[in-house]
Amino acid sequence: MANQPAQNLPNIDLGDHQSLWKEHLELQTKVLESVDAKYIFPSKGWQSARKVLDIGCGEGSHFLRIQSQYPDKSYTGIDVDKDAISMAQAKTSEVLFLAKDLYSYTPTQEFDFAIARLLIQHLPNLDNFLDFAQACLNPGGTLLVVDGYEELKRIGPKAPLLKAAYDELAKAQKQRGTARNGSLELVNLAYKHGFQVEQEIIEALYAERDFSKQDLKHLYEVNSRVIKELYGVPLDLNAIYAQLDDWVLDNAPVTVGVHILTLQKI
Ligand SMILES: C[S@@+](CC[C@H](N)C(=O)[O-])C[C@H]1O[C@@H](n2cnc3c(N)ncnc32)[C@H](O)[C@@H]1O
Repeated sequence: MANQPAQNLPNIDLGDHQSLWKEHLELQTKVLESVDAKYIFPSKGWQSARKVLDIGCGEGSHFLRIQSQYPDKSYTGIDVDKDAISMAQAKTSEVLFLAKDLYSYTPTQEFDFAIARLLIQHLPNLDNFLDFAQACLNPGGTLLVVDGYEELKRIGPKAPLLKAAYDELAKAQKQRGTARNGSLELVNLAYKHGFQVEQEIIEALYAERDFSKQDLKHLYEVNSRVIKELYGVPLDLNAIYAQLDDWVLDNAPVTVGVHILTLQKI
């Protein structure tokens, strides 16, 4: 496995921003909750899986939510961010959390189901990622990728400053060699790395149907701080918050786009 350093969030010194990043991940988990019930839990791979791996588990809020609903499986989470792993492990002893960089760690082949949620947009090299997932999984095992899908993110007309902030974020991520829609590339790479595509879904989640608009507002406020403080994009946060106060009362449709990809190890 190539020893390529991760040029992504963990290389930013989170320093005092740990709690901001944690809040960001917890809110994302809330907003995307419907995806688990719709696409993870009913799948055959999930139902039969005994050992589950979360690649890029962060501080574990999503993984622990899943584990609490299916406590009979065995769970391991890995993340390159040591502080996130410490936070995750402090929450439970039921899950094994490991501080590992997927670009330099050689895993054992023991898992039936691997989840990579909101990870791909932070990765500079997807070939190495697929090699890693391939090495973790038993034959017939499932890799489930969930990531954002930018074209189906509809913010609506009342928050143009937030829209502009996301445009700047996309540029900042591009400069780091990552792409917000990077997960779309995986389908083209899958076969070469010993996976077949089982299912690919691109879906818009709607505010007030799939998640609460108030939760999304809170996520957008936290995200704006993340974009400013972690990515260094100059933003007038108070002006963004003021627009979001009007935005939350507006009736224009608001959606979050998700790309869900299920790959099976051949
Ligand atoms: C947006 S967070 C998603 C966390 C979690 N999967 C969730 O859905 O809440 C992306 C995570 O990927 C981790 N990550 C990025 N590059 C990584 C790498 N090379 N190896 C392991 N983890 C990595 C980051 O440290 C971060 O915690």
